[in-house]
Amino acid sequence: MRIGILGAGQLGQMLALSGYPLGQRFVFLDTTGNPSADIGQTLVDKNNARLDEFLSQVDVVSYEFEHLPVELVRQIEQHKPVYPSSRALQVCQNRGLEKALFTQLAIPTPEYHLVDSQESLQQAVTALTTKHQKPVVIKTVTEGYDGKGQAVLKNDASQAVSEVWQKIGGRELIVEAFIDFVREVSIIAVRSQTGEVRFYPMAENHHVDGILRYSFAPLPNLNAQLQAQAEGYIQALLTELDYVGVLTLELFQQKNGELMANEMAPRVHNSGHWTQNGAATSQFENHLRAVAGLPLGSTAARLPTCMVNIIGKNGDVQQLLSIEGLHLHLYGKEERAGRKLGHLNLVAANSEALLAKVETVAKRLPQAPLPKFSFVE
Ligand SMILES: Nc1ncnc2c1ncn2[C@@H]1O[C@H](COP(=O)(O)OP(=O)(O)O)[C@@H](O)[C@H]1O
Ligand SMILES: [Mg+2]
Repeated sequence: MRIGILGAGQLGQMLALSGYPLGQRFVFLDTTGNPSADIGQTLVDKNNARLDEFLSQVDVVSYEFEHLPVELVRQIEQHKPVYPSSRALQVCQNRGLEKALFTQLAIPTPEYHLVDSQESLQQAVTALTTKHQKPVVIKTVTEGYDGKGQAVLKNDASQAVSEVWQKIGGRELIVEAFIDFVREVSIIAVRSQTGEVRFYPMAENHHVDGILRYSFAPLPNLNAQLQAQAEGYIQALLTELDYVGVLTLELFQQKNGELMANEMAPRVHNSGHWTQNGAATSQFENHLRAVAGLPLGSTAARLPTCMVNIIGKNGDVQQLLSIEGLHLHLYGKEERAGRKLGHLNLVAANSEALLAKVETVAKRLPQAPLPKFSFVE
Protein backbone atom coordinates (compact mmCIF):
# COMPACT_ATOMS: atom_id res chain seq x y z
CA MET A 1 0.00 0.00 0.00
CA ARG A 2 1.23 3.46 -0.94
CA ILE A 3 0.57 6.05 1.74
CA GLY A 4 0.58 9.76 0.90
CA ILE A 5 1.47 12.10 3.76
CA LEU A 6 0.83 15.85 3.71
CA GLY A 7 3.83 17.39 5.46
CA ALA A 8 7.34 15.98 5.62
CA GLY A 9 8.72 16.57 9.11
CA GLN A 10 9.75 14.22 11.90
CA LEU A 11 6.25 12.86 12.46
CA GLY A 12 6.14 11.80 8.82
CA GLN A 13 9.59 10.28 9.17
CA MET A 14 8.52 8.23 12.18
CA LEU A 15 5.29 7.16 10.46
CA ALA A 16 7.31 5.82 7.53
CA LEU A 17 9.80 4.10 9.82
CA SER A 18 6.97 2.10 11.36
CA GLY A 19 5.10 1.56 8.08
CA TYR A 20 7.95 -0.10 6.19
CA PRO A 21 7.72 -3.37 8.15
CA LEU A 22 4.01 -3.48 7.24
CA GLY A 23 5.03 -3.36 3.57
CA GLN A 24 3.86 0.23 3.17
CA ARG A 25 5.66 2.81 1.08
CA PHE A 26 5.48 6.58 1.47
CA VAL A 27 5.19 9.72 -0.62
CA PHE A 28 5.35 13.07 1.17
CA LEU A 29 3.93 16.32 -0.12
CA ASP A 30 5.89 19.26 1.32
CA THR A 31 4.60 22.79 0.77
CA THR A 32 7.17 24.55 2.98
CA GLY A 33 10.29 24.00 0.91
CA ASN A 34 11.94 22.61 4.05
CA PRO A 35 11.23 18.88 4.22
CA SER A 36 13.12 16.87 6.84
CA ALA A 37 11.46 13.42 6.63
CA ASP A 38 14.35 12.13 4.48
CA ILE A 39 12.74 8.75 3.84
CA GLY A 40 10.52 7.47 1.04
CA GLN A 41 9.84 9.99 -1.68
CA THR A 42 9.26 13.70 -1.09
CA LEU A 43 7.58 16.05 -3.55
CA VAL A 44 8.50 19.63 -2.74
CA ASP A 45 5.61 21.73 -3.96
CA LYS A 46 5.71 25.36 -2.83
CA ASN A 47 3.49 26.56 -5.68
CA ASN A 48 0.74 23.92 -5.53
CA ALA A 49 1.71 22.48 -8.90
CA ARG A 50 2.40 18.84 -8.04
CA LEU A 51 -0.86 17.64 -6.48
CA ASP A 52 -1.80 15.42 -9.45
CA GLU A 53 1.64 13.83 -9.43
CA PHE A 54 1.27 13.16 -5.70
CA LEU A 55 -2.23 11.69 -6.04
CA SER A 56 -1.21 9.40 -8.90
CA GLN A 57 1.37 7.77 -6.63
CA VAL A 58 -0.70 7.01 -3.52
CA ASP A 59 -3.65 4.83 -2.48
CA VAL A 60 -4.65 6.71 0.64
CA VAL A 61 -3.71 10.07 2.19
CA SER A 62 -3.04 11.20 5.76
CA TYR A 63 -1.26 14.22 7.24
CA GLU A 64 1.32 14.91 9.90
CA PHE A 65 0.35 18.46 10.80
CA GLU A 66 -2.96 20.24 11.03
CA HIS A 67 -2.12 23.70 9.71
CA LEU A 68 -3.13 22.80 6.18
CA PRO A 69 -5.68 24.51 3.96
CA VAL A 70 -8.94 22.59 4.52
CA GLU A 71 -9.80 23.30 0.87
CA LEU A 72 -6.74 21.34 -0.26
CA VAL A 73 -7.80 18.33 1.80
CA ARG A 74 -11.40 18.54 0.51
CA GLN A 75 -10.01 18.58 -3.01
CA ILE A 76 -7.89 15.49 -2.30
CA GLU A 77 -10.94 13.73 -0.83
CA GLN A 78 -12.56 13.93 -4.27
CA HIS A 79 -9.84 11.58 -5.56
CA LYS A 80 -8.45 9.49 -2.70
CA PRO A 81 -9.57 8.52 0.79
CA VAL A 82 -8.17 10.92 3.42
CA TYR A 83 -7.89 9.90 7.10
CA PRO A 84 -8.64 11.67 9.38
CA SER A 85 -11.29 13.47 7.32
CA SER A 86 -11.27 17.12 6.29
CA ARG A 87 -13.95 17.77 8.90
CA ALA A 88 -11.71 16.48 11.70
CA LEU A 89 -8.90 18.64 10.32
CA GLN A 90 -11.11 21.71 10.12
CA VAL A 91 -12.20 21.40 13.76
CA CYS A 92 -8.74 20.58 15.12
CA GLN A 93 -6.99 23.47 13.37
CA ASN A 94 -9.34 26.08 14.83
CA ARG A 95 -9.41 26.61 18.60
CA GLY A 96 -12.88 28.17 18.36
CA LEU A 97 -14.44 25.16 16.58
CA GLU A 98 -12.55 22.81 18.89
CA LYS A 99 -13.88 24.48 22.03
CA ALA A 100 -17.42 24.60 20.57
CA LEU A 101 -17.26 20.84 19.93
CA PHE A 102 -16.01 20.18 23.48
CA THR A 103 -18.95 22.16 24.80
CA GLN A 104 -21.45 20.43 22.49
CA LEU A 105 -20.22 17.03 23.75
CA ALA A 106 -20.26 18.15 27.41
CA ILE A 107 -16.49 17.90 27.72
CA PRO A 108 -15.40 20.49 30.30
CA THR A 109 -13.03 23.17 28.96
CA PRO A 110 -11.81 26.53 30.34
CA GLU A 111 -14.33 29.36 29.96
CA TYR A 112 -13.47 31.32 26.82
CA HIS A 113 -14.40 34.22 24.54
CA LEU A 114 -13.64 34.62 20.84
CA VAL A 115 -12.60 38.16 19.89
CA ASP A 116 -11.64 39.95 16.68
CA SER A 117 -10.77 43.51 17.71
CA GLN A 118 -8.84 45.32 20.43
CA GLU A 119 -12.17 46.47 21.95
CA SER A 120 -13.64 42.98 22.14
CA LEU A 121 -10.31 41.67 23.48
CA GLN A 122 -10.39 44.28 26.25
CA GLN A 123 -13.99 43.36 27.14
CA ALA A 124 -13.20 39.64 27.26
CA VAL A 125 -10.08 40.14 29.41
CA THR A 126 -12.03 42.35 31.83
CA ALA A 127 -14.96 39.92 32.00
CA LEU A 128 -12.82 36.81 32.66
CA THR A 129 -10.32 38.37 35.08
CA THR A 130 -13.16 39.93 37.09
CA LYS A 131 -15.17 36.71 37.22
CA HIS A 132 -12.35 34.26 38.02
CA GLN A 133 -9.78 36.50 39.72
CA LYS A 134 -7.18 34.61 37.69
CA PRO A 135 -4.98 35.53 34.72
CA VAL A 136 -6.15 34.86 31.17
CA VAL A 137 -4.39 33.03 28.34
CA ILE A 138 -4.79 34.62 24.92
CA LYS A 139 -4.11 32.54 21.80
CA THR A 140 -4.43 32.93 18.06
CA VAL A 141 -7.42 30.85 16.94
CA THR A 142 -5.42 29.25 14.12
CA GLU A 143 -1.81 28.29 13.46
CA GLY A 144 -0.41 28.23 17.01
CA TYR A 145 1.87 25.41 18.16
CA ASP A 146 4.50 24.84 20.86
CA GLY A 147 3.11 27.82 22.77
CA LYS A 148 3.66 30.18 19.82
CA GLY A 149 1.04 32.88 19.22
CA GLN A 150 0.12 33.07 22.91
CA ALA A 151 0.22 35.59 25.73
CA VAL A 152 -0.75 35.55 29.40
CA LEU A 153 -2.23 38.63 31.11
CA LYS A 154 -2.52 38.94 34.88
CA ASN A 155 -5.10 41.74 34.77
CA ASP A 156 -7.07 43.90 32.34
CA ALA A 157 -4.77 46.98 32.23
CA SER A 158 -5.49 48.57 28.86
CA GLN A 159 -1.82 49.20 28.01
CA ALA A 160 -0.99 45.46 28.30
CA VAL A 161 -4.12 44.48 26.35
CA SER A 162 -3.10 46.87 23.58
CA GLU A 163 0.41 45.34 23.47
CA VAL A 164 -1.02 41.84 23.13
CA TRP A 165 -3.24 43.00 20.27
CA GLN A 166 -0.19 44.55 18.57
CA LYS A 167 1.87 41.40 19.06
CA ILE A 168 -0.48 38.52 18.19
CA GLY A 169 -3.74 40.27 17.23
CA GLY A 170 -5.05 41.77 14.02
CA ARG A 171 -6.79 38.41 13.63
CA GLU A 172 -9.22 36.27 15.56
CA LEU A 173 -8.06 35.42 19.10
CA ILE A 174 -9.38 33.24 21.88
CA VAL A 175 -9.24 34.42 25.49
CA GLU A 176 -9.31 31.62 28.06
CA ALA A 177 -9.53 31.57 31.82
CA PHE A 178 -6.18 30.48 33.29
CA ILE A 179 -6.40 27.02 34.84
CA ASP A 180 -4.34 26.35 37.98
CA PHE A 181 -3.77 22.76 37.02
CA VAL A 182 -2.06 20.15 39.20
CA ARG A 183 -0.70 18.54 36.09
CA GLU A 184 -1.14 18.26 32.34
CA VAL A 185 -2.04 14.88 30.89
CA SER A 186 -2.96 13.60 27.46
CA ILE A 187 -4.89 10.66 26.14
CA ILE A 188 -4.26 9.12 22.75
CA ALA A 189 -6.78 6.89 21.02
CA VAL A 190 -6.97 5.20 17.66
CA ARG A 191 -10.10 4.34 15.69
CA SER A 192 -10.19 1.97 12.73
CA GLN A 193 -12.28 2.19 9.57
CA THR A 194 -14.69 -0.33 11.11
CA GLY A 195 -15.14 1.78 14.26
CA GLU A 196 -12.92 -0.30 16.55
CA VAL A 197 -11.33 1.95 19.20
CA ARG A 198 -8.27 1.47 21.40
CA PHE A 199 -6.92 3.81 24.05
CA TYR A 200 -3.36 4.23 25.25
CA PRO A 201 -2.79 4.76 28.97
CA MET A 202 -2.60 8.48 29.74
CA ALA A 203 0.72 10.31 29.94
CA GLU A 204 1.73 13.15 32.26
CA ASN A 205 3.28 15.98 30.26
CA HIS A 206 5.69 18.61 31.52
CA HIS A 207 5.92 21.75 29.35
CA VAL A 208 8.39 24.60 29.71
CA ASP A 209 7.58 27.85 27.87
CA GLY A 210 4.79 26.08 25.98
CA ILE A 211 7.10 23.33 24.64
CA LEU A 212 6.75 19.72 25.74
CA ARG A 213 9.90 18.50 27.53
CA TYR A 214 8.90 15.27 29.32
CA SER A 215 6.08 12.73 28.94
CA PHE A 216 5.77 9.99 31.54
CA ALA A 217 3.49 7.00 30.94
CA PRO A 218 1.65 5.18 32.27
CA LEU A 219 1.05 7.51 35.24
CA PRO A 220 2.41 5.79 38.38
CA ASN A 221 -0.72 6.81 40.28
CA LEU A 222 -3.19 6.33 37.45
CA ASN A 223 -6.60 5.47 38.81
CA ALA A 224 -9.06 3.60 36.64
CA GLN A 225 -11.71 6.29 37.10
CA LEU A 226 -9.49 9.04 35.71
CA GLN A 227 -8.49 6.94 32.70
CA ALA A 228 -12.17 6.07 32.12
CA GLN A 229 -13.17 9.75 32.25
CA ALA A 230 -10.54 10.67 29.66
CA GLU A 231 -11.55 7.70 27.48
CA GLY A 232 -15.17 8.83 27.63
CA TYR A 233 -14.23 12.30 26.42
CA ILE A 234 -12.07 11.13 23.53
CA GLN A 235 -14.57 8.43 22.56
CA ALA A 236 -17.27 11.12 22.22
CA LEU A 237 -14.97 13.08 19.88
CA LEU A 238 -14.07 10.01 17.81
CA THR A 239 -17.72 9.05 17.35
CA GLU A 240 -18.90 12.56 16.54
CA LEU A 241 -16.17 13.04 13.93
CA ASP A 242 -16.51 9.48 12.55
CA TYR A 243 -12.77 9.56 13.02
CA VAL A 244 -10.18 7.23 11.49
CA GLY A 245 -6.58 7.25 12.79
CA VAL A 246 -4.86 8.51 15.93
CA LEU A 247 -6.43 11.38 17.89
CA THR A 248 -4.78 13.16 20.84
CA LEU A 249 -6.59 15.06 23.56
CA GLU A 250 -4.57 17.32 25.89
CA LEU A 251 -6.13 17.79 29.31
CA PHE A 252 -5.57 19.76 32.51
CA GLN A 253 -6.13 17.97 35.80
CA GLN A 254 -7.38 20.34 38.46
CA LYS A 255 -6.91 20.28 42.24
CA ASN A 256 -10.30 18.62 42.72
CA GLY A 257 -9.10 15.80 40.45
CA GLU A 258 -11.31 16.71 37.51
CA LEU A 259 -10.16 16.86 33.94
CA MET A 260 -10.61 19.78 31.56
CA ALA A 261 -9.92 19.58 27.83
CA ASN A 262 -7.24 21.97 26.55
CA GLU A 263 -6.88 21.12 22.86
CA MET A 264 -6.76 18.17 20.50
CA ALA A 265 -4.59 17.14 17.58
CA PRO A 266 -5.76 15.02 14.62
CA ARG A 267 -2.52 13.07 14.39
CA VAL A 268 0.26 11.25 16.13
CA HIS A 269 1.52 13.46 18.94
CA ASN A 270 4.74 14.28 20.76
CA SER A 271 3.16 13.09 24.04
CA GLY A 272 2.71 9.66 22.40
CA HIS A 273 6.32 9.14 21.32
CA TRP A 274 6.83 6.99 24.45
CA THR A 275 4.75 4.28 22.73
CA GLN A 276 7.64 3.55 20.33
CA ASN A 277 9.53 1.76 23.09
CA GLY A 278 6.99 1.50 25.91
CA ALA A 279 3.82 0.10 24.32
CA ALA A 280 2.95 -3.12 22.51
CA THR A 281 2.15 -1.16 19.32
CA SER A 282 3.38 2.39 18.73
CA GLN A 283 1.01 5.27 17.95
CA PHE A 284 2.69 5.49 14.52
CA GLU A 285 1.99 1.87 13.63
CA ASN A 286 -1.58 2.07 14.92
CA HIS A 287 -2.25 5.23 12.93
CA LEU A 288 -1.06 3.48 9.77
CA ARG A 289 -3.04 0.34 10.55
CA ALA A 290 -6.18 2.49 10.83
CA VAL A 291 -5.43 4.47 7.68
CA ALA A 292 -4.69 1.29 5.70
CA GLY A 293 -7.83 -0.53 6.88
CA LEU A 294 -5.91 -3.08 8.97
CA PRO A 295 -6.81 -4.45 12.42
CA LEU A 296 -5.48 -2.35 15.30
CA GLY A 297 -2.64 -3.47 17.58
CA SER A 298 -2.58 -3.65 21.37
CA THR A 299 -2.16 -0.26 23.08
CA ALA A 300 -1.02 -1.80 26.38
CA ALA A 301 2.07 -0.33 28.06
CA ARG A 302 4.94 -2.77 28.42
CA LEU A 303 6.95 -0.90 31.06
CA PRO A 304 7.07 2.54 32.66
CA THR A 305 8.48 4.88 30.03
CA CYS A 306 9.56 8.50 29.89
CA MET A 307 9.99 10.51 26.70
CA VAL A 308 12.51 13.35 26.87
CA ASN A 309 12.60 15.90 24.06
CA ILE A 310 15.98 16.99 22.68
CA ILE A 311 15.57 20.68 21.96
CA GLY A 312 18.00 23.21 20.48
CA LYS A 313 21.20 21.28 21.18
CA ASN A 314 22.11 17.63 20.80
CA GLY A 315 23.60 15.69 23.67
CA ASP A 316 26.63 13.45 23.54
CA VAL A 317 25.40 10.28 21.85
CA GLN A 318 28.13 8.12 23.39
CA GLN A 319 27.19 9.27 26.87
CA LEU A 320 23.46 9.00 26.34
CA LEU A 321 23.52 5.52 24.84
CA SER A 322 25.59 4.23 27.74
CA ILE A 323 22.43 4.57 29.86
CA GLU A 324 20.66 1.21 30.01
CA GLY A 325 17.12 1.28 28.62
CA LEU A 326 17.61 4.48 26.61
CA HIS A 327 16.37 4.60 23.02
CA LEU A 328 17.42 7.48 20.82
CA HIS A 329 15.25 8.94 18.04
CA LEU A 330 17.10 11.70 16.18
CA TYR A 331 15.36 13.54 13.34
CA GLY A 332 18.48 14.51 11.37
CA LYS A 333 17.97 18.26 11.86
CA GLU A 334 20.49 21.07 12.34
CA GLU A 335 20.81 22.54 15.84
CA ARG A 336 18.80 25.73 16.33
CA ALA A 337 17.46 27.37 19.51
CA GLY A 338 14.03 25.98 20.41
CA ARG A 339 14.00 23.41 17.59
CA LYS A 340 12.92 19.83 18.24
CA LEU A 341 15.96 17.80 17.12
CA GLY A 342 14.89 14.44 18.46
CA HIS A 343 13.71 12.67 21.56
CA LEU A 344 14.73 9.74 23.66
CA ASN A 345 12.64 7.15 25.40
CA LEU A 346 13.74 5.74 28.73
CA VAL A 347 12.31 2.43 29.82
CA ALA A 348 12.74 0.86 33.26
CA ALA A 349 11.32 -1.95 35.37
CA ASN A 350 9.56 0.43 37.77
CA SER A 351 8.81 4.15 38.23
CA GLU A 352 11.55 4.74 40.82
CA ALA A 353 14.24 3.30 38.57
CA LEU A 354 12.82 5.26 35.66
CA LEU A 355 12.87 8.57 37.56
CA ALA A 356 16.53 8.01 38.46
CA LYS A 357 17.36 7.56 34.78
CA VAL A 358 15.41 10.67 33.82
CA GLU A 359 17.48 12.68 36.35
CA THR A 360 20.69 11.33 34.82
CA VAL A 361 19.56 12.22 31.31
CA ALA A 362 18.50 15.72 32.37
CA LYS A 363 22.08 16.33 33.57
CA ARG A 364 23.61 15.02 30.36
CA LEU A 365 21.38 16.87 27.91
CA PRO A 366 22.48 20.47 27.30
CA GLN A 367 19.92 23.07 28.45
CA ALA A 368 17.42 20.46 29.61
CA PRO A 369 15.10 21.78 32.32
CA LEU A 370 14.82 19.88 35.59
CA PRO A 371 12.19 17.16 35.24
CA LYS A 372 9.08 17.85 37.34
CA PHE A 373 6.23 15.41 37.84
CA SER A 374 3.14 15.74 40.01
CA PHE A 375 3.75 12.36 41.61
CA VAL A 376 7.24 13.26 42.90
CA GLU A 377 7.58 15.28 46.11
N1 LIG B 1 -6.10 28.06 29.85
C1 LIG B 1 -4.86 27.72 30.23
N2 LIG B 1 -4.52 27.75 31.54
C2 LIG B 1 -3.26 27.44 31.95
N3 LIG B 1 -2.26 27.07 31.11
C3 LIG B 1 -2.53 27.02 29.79
C4 LIG B 1 -3.84 27.33 29.28
N4 LIG B 1 -3.81 27.18 27.94
C5 LIG B 1 -2.55 26.79 27.63
N5 LIG B 1 -1.77 26.69 28.72
C6 LIG B 1 -0.34 26.26 28.76
O1 LIG B 1 0.28 26.54 27.51
C7 LIG B 1 0.65 25.32 26.84
C8 LIG B 1 0.44 25.45 25.34
O2 LIG B 1 -0.92 25.75 25.06
P1 LIG B 1 -1.79 24.93 24.01
O3 LIG B 1 -3.18 25.46 24.04
O4 LIG B 1 -1.64 23.48 24.27
O5 LIG B 1 -1.14 25.38 22.63
P2 LIG B 1 -0.14 24.69 21.61
O6 LIG B 1 -0.97 24.51 20.38
O7 LIG B 1 0.95 25.69 21.45
O8 LIG B 1 0.31 23.38 22.21
C9 LIG B 1 -0.21 24.25 27.50
O9 LIG B 1 0.36 22.96 27.37
C10 LIG B 1 -0.26 24.75 28.94
O10 LIG B 1 0.96 24.46 29.61
MG1 LIG C 1 -0.79 21.91 23.21
